[in-house]
Amino acid sequence: MALSASRAMSKGVVVTVPVLVLSALVAAVFLFFLFSSLSSCSCPSTSGTPVNDVSNAVSVGGTGVSDSNSGGFTPLSTRKEDVDWVKSQIIANGLHMQDNVLRKGINPRTRAQQLEDLRQFKGISHYEGDGSDNHTALPCPGELLVEEHHSNYGEPWAGGRDVFEFLAQSVQLRPDSQVLEIGCGTLRVGLHFIRYLNPEHFNCLERDELSLMSAFRYELPSQGLLHKRPLIVKGEDMDFSKFDSSTVYDLIYASAVFLHMPDKLVWVGLERLASKLRPYDGRIFVSHNIKFCSRLGGDECTKRLTSLGLEYLGKHTHDSLLFNHYEIWFEFRRNKA
Ligand SMILES: C[S@@+](CC[C@H](N)C(=O)[O-])C[C@H]1O[C@@H](n2cnc3c(N)ncnc32)[C@H](O)[C@@H]1O
Repeated sequence: MALSASRAMSKGVVVTVPVLVLSALVAAVFLFFLFSSLSSCSCPSTSGTPVNDVSNAVSVGGTGVSDSNSGGFTPLSTRKEDVDWVKSQIIANGLHMQDNVLRKGINPRTRAQQLEDLRQFKGISHYEGDGSDNHTALPCPGELLVEEHHSNYGEPWAGGRDVFEFLAQSVQLRPDSQVLEIGCGTLRVGLHFIRYLNPEHFNCLERDELSLMSAFRYELPSQGLLHKRPLIVKGEDMDFSKFDSSTVYDLIYASAVFLHMPDKLVWVGLERLASKLRPYDGRIFVSHNIKFCSRLGGDECTKRLTSLGLEYLGKHTHDSLLFNHYEIWFEFRRNKA
């Protein structure tokens, strides 16, 4: 025995089978506790997507803030683990894509049918006679109640979330950030900002009355966001005088708006807003195209931007969680204090 041991030692270290099994067991138990403690940790990941890395909208890790109200961590955008989780739930529940066909216990109604019901029957139960003023009515037109305005601008409403996540991640949005949207329409995108930001931190200039109606009469009340007191102002000539003149914006964005405006008006807006953008860290994002700039010619555009203290930083796209879609965004910053 002593001889064989010393021979073995001369060749190398000998580990007997029971010792090997025991070590493997100890290692397995250790790893089990290590991984279960890591997976139950709700602490924010520090490996967030870097600012401006917008090539991958479904960010791994993601960034966010501690939300003292909900007692947890609120990520700014959908993380890979969120997508993995929802996929696992779809698989676990054996779900498949299905047509919206009439099924037992479910009675699909088109918007048009719902609208007709509202007009004919005022809904299933409604106040009449003496009791008719016995409730808090925010008179909302039937068209808004059946969400026709979600189709107003021809883009799937669901895409608003993608735009929010892209912009929020790009500027490392915080609840105390100040945001201005030009042409917020029916709040397809703005709603997500309003929900995330502190009260009074979302501002918008919008010219269309029906869109403003849908914002005030349907979206804000129905989403429980009236307490967020967004400042949404009717106007079409880039007049920002109704907004607090001392506000310094962290993000100013125009989603599918500047392409509908005369170039001259876009420049008026930029001229008025440049000094209200937070120097260096603040961003202006413009979607679809910047023909107001390219039509001037590259050099002329750069000169004009420079005279306003603005600088063009580049072009981005973002991914969509729900469909095969992206928008092109152009990023600007203020390069002078
Ligand atoms: C295609 S919609 C986009 C709405 C919203 N930004 C979105 O992404 O869902 C364009 C919006 O810009 C608004 N708009 C166009 N010109 C405007 C102007 N001069 N001032 C303010 N809003 C304007 C329109 O009324 C409309 O609501």
